[in-house]
Amino acid sequence: MYRNTILFASLSIALFSLLGFAMYKEENPEWKSYQKEYNVLLSEKAGDPKLANLPLGLKQNWNSVLNRIDRCMTCHMGVSNTKFFADAKQPYKAHSFLGEGEFMRKHPFEKFGCTICHQGDPQANSVERTHGFVDHVDRQPLTGIFVYSSCSKCHTNLYAPDVDFKEAPVLMKGKALVMQKGCGGCHTIKQMGYGGIMAPELSAFGTRTELAFHLVHDFSHVENPVKSMKNWEWEHFKDPQKITPGNRLATPPQPPTIMPNFHLTDDETTALTVFVMSFKDKKVENIPMDYLPPPYPATVQAPAAPPAKVEPKKRSAKKP
Ligand code: HEC
Ligand code: HEC
Ligand code: HEC
Ligand code: HEC
Repeated sequence: MYRNTILFASLSIALFSLLGFAMYKEENPEWKSYQKEYNVLLSEKAGDPKLANLPLGLKQNWNSVLNRIDRCMTCHMGVSNTKFFADAKQPYKAHSFLGEGEFMRKHPFEKFGCTICHQGDPQANSVERTHGFVDHVDRQPLTGIFVYSSCSKCHTNLYAPDVDFKEAPVLMKGKALVMQKGCGGCHTIKQMGYGGIMAPELSAFGTRTELAFHLVHDFSHVENPVKSMKNWEWEHFKDPQKITPGNRLATPPQPPTIMPNFHLTDDETTALTVFVMSFKDKKVENIPMDYLPPPYPATVQAPAAPPAKVEPKKRSAKKP
């Protein structure tokens, strides 16, 4: 009897401390400490001590047209404050390319939010659930140079040989490489007018979810401990035969891949990885009309004999 009481008491204490901890976490989520630090920084920069005590609260951009609720600015508080936060540390830094005439000015955060370009989990509000490789998220968050793989959701004419979309140099580098190396001889890439049939079609490559990719790819030869689509692709471009070596013991035996090793530099490998991830299926991305930009002006001389076989769809044809 006495023993049971002790057991009961200790269980209750354990339960209460767990509850207390949960309540503490609820009251003091990670984002609050970021907002507090932001307010202190803001008050210092603006020379107004009152700003240090601004109320805290989740910040979200509910975009009914794009059908998403982005909460990134809950922590990225200084994202549009170029006056005070241009050189601040993360997550407070003002966004790059917000200067006069730069491309982010054309994509106001109130209209575009963040995840249309960055992907990831719009509503998550902890660093763990928003950054890096996130287990439960099918469309992984994009950072750094990989963010450029989203531009093509809307800027669909950047694949035309006579368009130099100079705000996304990494895509232009990828495009030049694909034209140079003759990838279209094996792969179908509709965006670029290629119709190769010796290898998987790539036209909707960047729309595939992480799960769909995992189901049909062998990761056992990938060295990077993070088993993501982008890491598979990167290592495959570096050395296709290492990642897809075939299987001599299978019946019938599978030979190694016929995709050539192009002996690419790391920069070229990254450019190609970003570029293939930019191939989007328009039906799946389903960008509403008023988010589609006018075609980017053609400025470069198209090569004498463009290898185009399929005429890329003209944007103007989609206008009502
Ligand atoms: C809970 C706070 C928090 C939320 C919510 C948050 N971030 Fe961050 N973010 C951070 C912190 C802290 C850093 C800097 C440390 C780091 O790189 O992990 C950062 C860094 C970044 C970087 C730079 C990473 C790099 O490698 O250069 C990007 C891009 C970014 N965040 C995008 C986003 C996007 C997009 C969202 C919304 C889907 C988001 N963040 C939501 C806290 C947050
Ligand atoms: C039009 C597309 C677009 C939108 C919308 C967008 N970003 Fe970015 N963002 C980029 C690109 C591209 C980069 C990569 C810059 C680079 O590394 O060259 C970037 C980089 C970043 C970085 C890394 C630091 C830096 O400034 O380079 C952070 C943090 C970030 N974005 C947060 C956000 C947040 C938060 C939002 C929403 C409030 C947002 N972004 C909306 C395209 C976008
Ligand atoms: C959701 C659709 C969408 C995405 C994604 C997007 N843009 Fe845009 N972009 C637009 C729209 C719409 C305009 C026209 C805005 C205006 O004229 O006011 C535009 C305009 C521009 C312009 C000005 C020249 C032009 O063609 O009108 C540049 C440069 C640009 N975007 C670069 C980028 C880059 C780089 C990325 C990827 C990091 C990107 N955009 C991602 C929709 C998008
Ligand atoms: C000689 C034919 C050939 C050429 C040329 C070629 N590939 Fe491939 N590629 C293949 C084959 C076959 C596969 C499928 C087997 C494998 O390697 O995994 C493949 C796989 C791929 C994949 C992975 C597809 C998937 O579903 O995951 C990508 C991406 C890719 N190639 C891009 C390129 C690019 C970009 C170029 C030009 C720089 C190129 N390939 C040149 C034959 C080729």
